[in-house]
Amino acid sequence: MAARPDRNGTPWWRSAIIYQVYIRSFADGDGDGIGDIAGLRSRLPYLAELGIDALWINPWYPSPMKDAGYDVSDFRAIEPLFGTLADAEAMIAEAHDLGLRILLDIVPNHFSDQHAWFREALAADPGSPERARFIFRDGQGPDGAEPPNDWMSNFGGLAWTRVPEADGRPGQWYLHLFTPEQPDVDWTNSDVQEEFTQTMRFWFGLGVDGFRIDVAHGLAKAEGLPDVGSTPWPPVGGEIVDHPHWDRDEVHEIYRSWRSLADTYDDPRVFVAEAWVHHPGRLAHYVRADELHTAFNFDFLLAPWDAERMRESIVASLTAHEAVGAPATWVLSNHDTVREVSRYARPQGARTLRKLDDLAALPADFAVGRRRARAAALLMLALPGGAYVYQGEELGLAEVEDLPEDLLQDPGWEQSGRTERGRDGCRVPIPWSGETPPFGFSPDDAGSPPWLPQPAEWRELTVEAQTGDEDSMLELYRRALHLRRAQPALGDGRLTWLDAPDGALAFGRDPGFVCIVNLSGDPVPVPDGTEILISSGPLTDDGRVPFDTSVWLTS
Ligand code: NOJ
Repeated sequence: MAARPDRNGTPWWRSAIIYQVYIRSFADGDGDGIGDIAGLRSRLPYLAELGIDALWINPWYPSPMKDAGYDVSDFRAIEPLFGTLADAEAMIAEAHDLGLRILLDIVPNHFSDQHAWFREALAADPGSPERARFIFRDGQGPDGAEPPNDWMSNFGGLAWTRVPEADGRPGQWYLHLFTPEQPDVDWTNSDVQEEFTQTMRFWFGLGVDGFRIDVAHGLAKAEGLPDVGSTPWPPVGGEIVDHPHWDRDEVHEIYRSWRSLADTYDDPRVFVAEAWVHHPGRLAHYVRADELHTAFNFDFLLAPWDAERMRESIVASLTAHEAVGAPATWVLSNHDTVREVSRYARPQGARTLRKLDDLAALPADFAVGRRRARAAALLMLALPGGAYVYQGEELGLAEVEDLPEDLLQDPGWEQSGRTERGRDGCRVPIPWSGETPPFGFSPDDAGSPPWLPQPAEWRELTVEAQTGDEDSMLELYRRALHLRRAQPALGDGRLTWLDAPDGALAFGRDPGFVCIVNLSGDPVPVPDGTEILISSGPLTDDGRVPFDTSVWLTS
């Protein structure tokens, strides 16, 4: 591929900007209202020009779509809604020609219940090799009518579903940490291990450069499947807890073997872990030298707009990553979290915004949210390491909070008893051009509207409307990404904290780079002898950095 050379003599992934393509909402090539590979191919030049290094594409495998593709029924094929394997191969080749690497999403914790293996397991007897690939157990109580333990699904409700046996009587239970249509597999089973090795080889053979690992912290379950009981998750106050199914030490053995596979390739393949472990030190375990390359930094994503809290999060991440020689990465949003414009528009954290009552109760100022999102982007892109950009973040899109209830598709909506609206609000199709929906997402003569409706006001946020507008979010991202590439100080490396007034952060990177972020304090003077490279917003009349604003300076 026409890849750019490694940066400052270190491997590309240590500094990479990886753009997340949520494929069903990125661009629709065939007019069915659902994004696809043809649409993505047509937009590759946009992505290359944006100034990113790689794409991470959310699952594009055959799926009944009970969890938007995270219920995979065949790991080595393409979902017909998205295209064909030939389309995928052509896309990978075109991306490579443009200098973009491709990471896919691998989903090793669970299959779809429509996967051939699970159907075989249902048809087989308790104790059979077919059942041993999943986590089937007898229930408790006299008739086995009680679930095997107290584990709960991530989307609400029990993590166990009971199946009928061949004679029609109620039988064993199977574990699903997500929807009932996503049975967990047993990672101590050698068929399961081999299936994923073969899947990775298959895609690596087609030129794929790496994988994002779904629920990387969930694959190992404690022997005997003990009750969760009162073990808290997420852990509180930086505590480390022994949880029966999250972040168990046994997962690391799996990633050591995956790393040795990735390293057998001439151009070594890379991994990023999705591990919600809520502790920078625990996260760093996933990126030890013989394990995964990077991991999403959700602590940074969840940090509120507060200088102390942000600084703590940055320091803790850098310290923990440095201890194992791995680069930190930074992320502001993804397809599971409330978009940052909407988070920063409110003082509260991300997660509570999904509860119906909270939404109504929390006043929001979106002008503030947008200003802070701009400042956060410059902060993120100046920090040591790499970063992830979620599609639409570069357009300044906010969460769509008023999707009609009858259109909500996220399984969390029904599984929570309709108390959590779920994640659809951050998954609305991207506006590319024009004055009215589908805003260029689908072709003009599209047969179907976008799978989720786009707000009318997005006409001001299309790629077309923002292009050339120097004050737009898109031009801020473009300029920052290009400057970042040109600045030898940025990307992998270290930072030095500089004195900053309360409410602000300032750090230097060698050679000759300074970033000032004013989150809430008095205007911060720009140091003498420095020159402004870029600013997320206007400075004060006397040239100081006001609150909700970041600047990059050369010194
Ligand atoms: C994490 C994915 O990002 C999310 O979208 C999905 O629902 C769960 N894992 C289950 O696969």
